[in-house]
Order: sequence, then structure tokens, then C-alpha cells
Amino acid sequence: MLNKIEDKFIKIISSDYCRLDDIIDLPPEKLIEVDMGCGKGSFSTLLAHRYPERLIISADVMIGRLRKLVKRNEREGVDNIQALRVEARVLLGMMMPDQAVHRLHILCPDPWPKDRHRSNRLLCSDFMVHVHRILKPGGMFHFSTDDVNYLEAVRKVVMASQLFEEYPEGFADIADFKTDFERLWNGQGKAVSHNVWRRRELVKDPSYRGH
Ligand SMILES: C[S@@+](CC[C@H](N)C(=O)[O-])C[C@H]1O[C@@H](n2cnc3c(N)ncnc32)[C@H](O)[C@@H]1O
Repeated sequence: MLNKIEDKFIKIISSDYCRLDDIIDLPPEKLIEVDMGCGKGSFSTLLAHRYPERLIISADVMIGRLRKLVKRNEREGVDNIQALRVEARVLLGMMMPDQAVHRLHILCPDPWPKDRHRSNRLLCSDFMVHVHRILKPGGMFHFSTDDVNYLEAVRKVVMASQLFEEYPEGFADIADFKTDFERLWNGQGKAVSHNVWRRRELVKDPSYRGH
């Protein structure tokens, strides 16, 4: 169950809580964007300014980073961001209702390049099933990284799932935004690649006659 609301603006979620719509309002008419692993959340704030009518869910496990996001939102008068301290698999695998999200952003996640740490990577085939489940029809998954090996691995996982199609236009409206880490990597001369995939609808195969 929900532990407690640590302060006014950040909801702290423990791993055994199940339904996000029991603790925050998710109006079906509102477009929801999730910034998963938002860090200090500059990207979330930019998104909230651009789309004041949307709900931005900014989620991370690090409370200190979320506090920075909340303070910035207060300074800038942003009121359409909900900060959640929650682990990604808990939020996307358990709590988020089906077909709730317009766009999921996972931007500059830790690439875990060493073989012995690879199991920490978020993006795997099981995870993609959850991404598909939570996206609305036509919903998008936006992923960025500076790590070419991670990008290659993620592309393989996404395409092998057969649940998504490439949709580069899905990032055109926010191509001018940079996350905190993207600015850091760019400052070190590293390019960050952005990729968007759109949810494919699963259709019944007309040639299938089984029961
Ligand atoms: C490299 S930072 C990127 C932050 C931000 N997206 C950016 O581009 O500036 C990765 C963030 O993901 C968070 N994170 C890592 N694993 C996570 C997980 N399993 N669930 C939720 N957040 C996670 C970390 O706490 C960190 O803030």
C-alpha cells in the first residue's frame, strides 16, 4: 500500500501498491505524458509549459532529484506535473492502467555498459509488453541515449516484440527540448539519439480458424 505522502507534491509509492488511478486523478479526456527516470526533470517542466492542458507524470527513484523538479515547478508556476517516487517496473508494470498514456519518455537512462550490470537495464522484452499495454492506441514510446550499443540493443528488443512501428515524427513537436543529461553529454561532445516508436494495434489474423 501507499506509504505516505512525504510532502505536498511528491507521492511516495511502495512496491505493493497497485492502481495509480486510486491515488491520482487520471481523467480519460486528458493526454498523459510520462517522463520515466526524469531525474531533475527539466524535460518534464518544458513539456508542462508547452502543453498546460496535459498531465505530466514525472517519476524517479531518487527523491532528491524529484525535490529539485518540484521546487522548479513552484518557481515557474507549473501545476500540471505529478511527481512520483516509484520504481519504473512498479509504475509501468503494475500501477498504470491499460491504455492510459499518450507518450512515454525514457530519456538518457543509465546504459549499464558492463556485462555484469546488464540485468539492471530497464529495456527488455518483458518491459516492452508493459509499454504496449499502458499506451493508448496510437500512443508513443520515446527513447534517447548517447550510448550506441544500448541504442542497438533497445532497437532489437523493440522490433523483435512486433508491438511497435518506427514513428520519428512523434518527437517533432519537442525536438527543441533537451534533458539535463542530454545537455551534459552534448557539453562533452557526445551526440544523443532520439527514437520514437508508435504502438501497433494487434489485429486478429483472418486466416486463423482455431478456437
Ligand atoms: C541518467 S539519469 C537521466 C535523467 C533524465 N532522464 C535526464 O535525461 O536528464 C537516469 C535517471 O533514472 C532514474 N532511474 C534509474 N533506474 C530507475 C528505475 N528502475 N526506476 C525509476 N527511476 C530510475 C535514476 O534515478 C536517474 O535519475
